[in-house]
Amino acid sequence: MATARRADSLARRAPAAHPLAGSAQERPVPGDWAIWGRAVHAPVSGAVEVLPRALMIVDAQGTIREMRPDVSAHDQSLGSWRARGRLTELSPAQMLLPGMVDLHVHAPQFPQAGTALDVPLEDWLQRSTFPLESRYADLDFATEVYGQLVETLLAHGTTTALYFATIHLPATQRLAQICLERGQRALVGRVAMDHPDQCPPFYRDPSAAQAIADTRALIDFIRAMPGNEAGLVCPVVTPRFVPACTDALLEGLGGLARACGCHVQTHCSESDWEHAHVLARTGLTDSAVLDRHGLLGRHSVLAHANFLEPADRALIHRQGAGIAHCPLSNAFFAGAVLPLREMLAEGLHIGLGSDIAGGPSASLFAQARMAVVASRLRETGTDSRKPASTRGTPGARIDFRTAFRLATAGGGEVLDLPVGLFRPGYAFDALVVESGLPEGDLRFQPEEPAETMLEKIVMTAGRADIARVWVAGRLVKSR
Ligand code: GUN
Ligand code: FE
Repeated sequence: MATARRADSLARRAPAAHPLAGSAQERPVPGDWAIWGRAVHAPVSGAVEVLPRALMIVDAQGTIREMRPDVSAHDQSLGSWRARGRLTELSPAQMLLPGMVDLHVHAPQFPQAGTALDVPLEDWLQRSTFPLESRYADLDFATEVYGQLVETLLAHGTTTALYFATIHLPATQRLAQICLERGQRALVGRVAMDHPDQCPPFYRDPSAAQAIADTRALIDFIRAMPGNEAGLVCPVVTPRFVPACTDALLEGLGGLARACGCHVQTHCSESDWEHAHVLARTGLTDSAVLDRHGLLGRHSVLAHANFLEPADRALIHRQGAGIAHCPLSNAFFAGAVLPLREMLAEGLHIGLGSDIAGGPSASLFAQARMAVVASRLRETGTDSRKPASTRGTPGARIDFRTAFRLATAGGGEVLDLPVGLFRPGYAFDALVVESGLPEGDLRFQPEEPAETMLEKIVMTAGRADIARVWVAGRLVKSR
């Protein structure tokens, strides 16, 4: 699984350099359109790049064909796009950002978002979550909830989502269909869980073989969905977490992931209980167990990863796997704060996850600011009875720039998809944030530097500040 090839069909199927590249402003290509205005993205860790008057040309497939960072309002090429009626122009109150990438969403848990967060993870799963997830045997219920969730995430600017569904094949297929219909880039997994000690009889795969067969069926279904030829929706092999899976299931899913070239997602070393449970059962850490079964590769996404040991971090780095940092959920269930700064310095691939409903917010802006806050609390420490000099972990903080990168380019890097940056060859997945909207909180000041505007966005923006959202060049939200 440790291959470095891009997993996505978008990259595989992207046309070679366009024959008219470089002369796009003068010689229009049918279906192309352009957008012009202030934009910002984060190509490297720790910094952002402001594109003050960016002109981006988007092709009929929704891929960025050309990006010029600073084009004057009087530029001839801008005039020609405008004259053809194929130009979207942003106002000074607006800013274009890459779409948000949510690396960890439990779609069926949306109805319990914000509730039942006052018990430990293991009790929350048994008492609240498994009973709720078992209800997705009802396809009507699934259709209603999944429709609401996808709409909500798009409205929050989440253009790519990595979903856990449930063990139910029909409901999981429905989630994939809804993402495709509404135009959200999505990776959708049917949850596999067969261990009788951790999964209740009313919500458990009857056997490893059945779980593997249903996973295979989902992969085939998603890849054959009419309208999904460009691979907007992809399947993901999804063992829930090691405690919920027998060794036979883990082994079978590892083989399937390899055979199908799929992404893999799971929970990893999330809490004290979870980490200790796996050590007691197997004598190994989660990461080592996943690796032994062929589930740790360049396209694996490990949710939480709070209790990784140094050898786990080295292993994950070697295999090129990614981490979904879920700071809001971790405040409720982890019992520790992720050593994010150190892990970024080691070169691990890291993005953000909402972990709906372990994390009660659907907003990746909320996750980004929680990542900043958690890192600050870790840096200062929390016990005022200790002297400041020994209270915390010096150098642990991240700032809004890093948080913004995690929410966008970081997520794209984890998934190995061309999303999260404004670059030729990348998908035009983007959102416009606007100051001064009647229901919004965001207020830019005249002449404020773009980086300060971004700081305000990361620290204060929400759904009501988002004016428009595109996925693969298709407008999916407009207020
Ligand atoms: N570990 C296994 N299942 C879950 C889940 O649904 N949410 C969280 N946060 N952790 C898990
Ligand atoms: Fe989770």
